[in-house]
Amino acid sequence: MAQELHVQPAQKLVGDVLVDGDKSISHRAVMFASLASGASHIKGFLRGTDCVATTHVMQKLGVKIDWPYENELVVHGVGAHGLHAPTEVLDCDNSGTTIRLMAGILAGQSFTSILTGTDQIRRRPMGRVIQPLRQMGAVISAHQGNNLAPLQIGPNPKLHGISYQMDVASAQVKSCLLLAGLFADGDTTISEPGPARDHTERMLNAMGARIVTRGQTICVSPLTSSLKPLEITVPGDISSAAFLLVAAAIVPGSDVMIRHVGVNPTRTGIIDALRAMGAHIRVTNLHEIGGEPVADIHVLGSELHGATFAGDVVVRMIDELPVLAVAASHAKGLTTIRNAGELKVKETNRIDTTVRELRKMGATISATDDGFVVDGPGKLHGGTVDSHGDHRLAMAMAIAGLHAQGNTTVTHSEVVKDSFPSFVRVLSALGAAISSKEVRP
Ligand code: S3P
Repeated sequence: MAQELHVQPAQKLVGDVLVDGDKSISHRAVMFASLASGASHIKGFLRGTDCVATTHVMQKLGVKIDWPYENELVVHGVGAHGLHAPTEVLDCDNSGTTIRLMAGILAGQSFTSILTGTDQIRRRPMGRVIQPLRQMGAVISAHQGNNLAPLQIGPNPKLHGISYQMDVASAQVKSCLLLAGLFADGDTTISEPGPARDHTERMLNAMGARIVTRGQTICVSPLTSSLKPLEITVPGDISSAAFLLVAAAIVPGSDVMIRHVGVNPTRTGIIDALRAMGAHIRVTNLHEIGGEPVADIHVLGSELHGATFAGDVVVRMIDELPVLAVAASHAKGLTTIRNAGELKVKETNRIDTTVRELRKMGATISATDDGFVVDGPGKLHGGTVDSHGDHRLAMAMAIAGLHAQGNTTVTHSEVVKDSFPSFVRVLSALGAAISSKEVRP
């Protein structure tokens, strides 16, 4: 059922909270545990719609998954060669990570399967995984000019290793090829143009695979023995924490602690960017869990100023750019984002949708070819804005509403549960007046 978020301006945000588990790590934990031999225990799993889609896909491939608690899974891995041919189409729902990483796993299977998803998924580019997988010998047919889902994969011969230069810094493409590389007959070497998130490399290595990274080149060797099962506690998602970081930074007098957040350096661009804009952020209690750095993040209400971001830092905060635009509209001076063309192929064209919706609230923001420019500080006003079916846009606009004049309604906000089902609850715990209502069509 459709939902709306109702947001009132906040006086200040104060408290000590946790956010839901990391989406990228949750997906990978289920997929890789399915390929291990034996039972894996995953705690802190993100029970959002995207990651649930991954569990359904794995179940249709013959993997037994138990859910003893809300955020805890036991995945009974079938081994690298134990997946079964599915009897139904594999529905990835709205999840780009599911469809692209599963394409890599399924390219390594001799049976045939079909991956599909929502209308949104069927509009997103798949050529970026299809082309290199075909170079490895995979048999894939796709819809419309070979670039869109549904994807039919298989029956596949034994894959062969390749050297591949990615033209975009995409962790989904890199991970797809690393997974296919596990099933190839020789090494696969991938070069990435920027530091795309490296959760796949960390987790697969911890499970006994051989993946070696040298600078921006990653080499995976074929599996010679089974992957070891996982015992993992998924850290909080920094992409979800980002909404709270911006909220606390822009609402004067705020003082917020977010505990147990993943701070993998390929994901912390938002901390660097907010600090460069003058935000008071402290990262404490840094430790490692299952090969991933985890910390507590403390943020205070701050006076922000504009800054320019381009290159690697943009890759390291690609999902946080809609909410960074909200911070920028409260910052003094110009904020410029460059080299963010990838935003055009996310759940929506996020350059377009961020600019469109923030303008409705009075922000001075304009789109460029590969990013946007925000001229602040502007006093935003409330009103009705739309998510366009994009979870990160829905949450960014709700954060904008916390420091606007008047009340804000975000329509089609049911998508928030794709990545951060506790969003309303966590913001309420910090003192925000925010609620979610079901809307009858
Ligand atoms: C993800 C990679 C990123 C990111 C997405 C999750 C992942 O996409 O935007 O939300 O889990 O690998 P790209 O690989 O397309 O940049």
